[in-house]
Amino acid sequence: MSNELRSTELRIAVLGVGMMGADHVRRITGAIAGARVAVINDYDSSKAEALAATIPGCRVVGDPIDAIADPDVDAVLLATPGPTHEKQLLACIEHGKPVMCEKPLTTDVETSLAVVKAEAELGKKLIQVGFMRRFDTEYEQLKALIVAGELGRPLVVHCAHRNPAVPPHFDSAMIVKDSLVHEVDVTRFLLDEEITSVQIIKPSANPAAPQGLADPQIALFSTESGKHVDAEVFVTTGVAYEVRTEVVGELGSAMIGLDVGLVRKTAPGTWGGQITPSFVERFGQAYDSEIQRWVDAVVAGAETGNYIDGPGAWDGYAAAAVCAAGVKSLESGERVAVDMVQRSSIAGA
Ligand SMILES: NC(=O)c1ccc[n+]([C@@H]2O[C@H](COP(=O)([O-])OP(=O)(O)OC[C@H]3O[C@@H](n4cnc5c(N)ncnc54)[C@H](O)[C@@H]3O)[C@@H](O)[C@H]2O)c1
Repeated sequence: MSNELRSTELRIAVLGVGMMGADHVRRITGAIAGARVAVINDYDSSKAEALAATIPGCRVVGDPIDAIADPDVDAVLLATPGPTHEKQLLACIEHGKPVMCEKPLTTDVETSLAVVKAEAELGKKLIQVGFMRRFDTEYEQLKALIVAGELGRPLVVHCAHRNPAVPPHFDSAMIVKDSLVHEVDVTRFLLDEEITSVQIIKPSANPAAPQGLADPQIALFSTESGKHVDAEVFVTTGVAYEVRTEVVGELGSAMIGLDVGLVRKTAPGTWGGQITPSFVERFGQAYDSEIQRWVDAVVAGAETGNYIDGPGAWDGYAAAAVCAAGVKSLESGERVAVDMVQRSSIAGA
């Protein structure tokens, strides 16, 4: 984007219209103000054509880099698989296009750092990373309590992250890199400090989990100031989608994610409710808020030079570094120090 938005509505190119990308297209088209999907790109061109045909004024561009460079595109939403992100993010930086990148930033620490450095050299905050829990109302309330000092100094955080099931290709390291990564970002968001070490404990595996899958896993984090965080990640519960976070501070504790909603009482003397079936329902409001605030930030960015409102490239890099330590610990069972550069060593990061 040449710093000037060329239409009243932000013209977005969505790259990758699988599960997340198609959901974001629906969101931008139906729920978000001030933006429209102008271009769609997907490796599967028939999928891209079918979706573009449902959106007035939207066209398909066959090559992802051409879609990023397209003069009729003001900003990019990347929902392609993680291994493609590095090249596509570097193209966004090269063409000066603000980009909302679904997590992960990239799939390893070195390439994530390269992206952080490339953006810092440009001197503009162009990259936002899709850690959507920061936009969830309950996480925002928990963060506000902490910032207001109402819990005193936070001392311990307990997290639980449970999925009913995962696809057959999901392996033990993916539990760290795809699931635990959200607890990593939540920890950094709530405590506002870096995670310095990780240990992954593997209790007896769920007999219902696929053969060889280390599920559940318990992650233990230490932070810069010595705070303790534990996270249970259990992705084959067969129950529903559950994400809970409890912060214990000097003056009390607070918990979110009880997911009780409506509580119904029926004869003969029973009560109950419903748990959200998946992350789509649990975090629907967070995704809407995330994309609306990103669109607003991109529009404002022409004035401010800051095109993001939420986690940026550094947060994606930090998460990658913590997850890399987690994968090492998964193999060794030992506590592993997180190997990452000091933020202050990269001007503008
Ligand atoms: N924030 C969250 O809660 C959350 C949840 C799920 C997935 N994700 C992330 O979203 C991204 C997409 O995940 P998904 O579950 O939608 O995957 P998906 O497999 O459903 O969709 C990916 C799409 O990208 C297309 N594609 C593949 N390579 C491409 C390329 N080089 N250029 C253009 N298109 C390409 C595929 O054809 C497919 O349509 C991943 O980075 C994933 O980690 C985030």
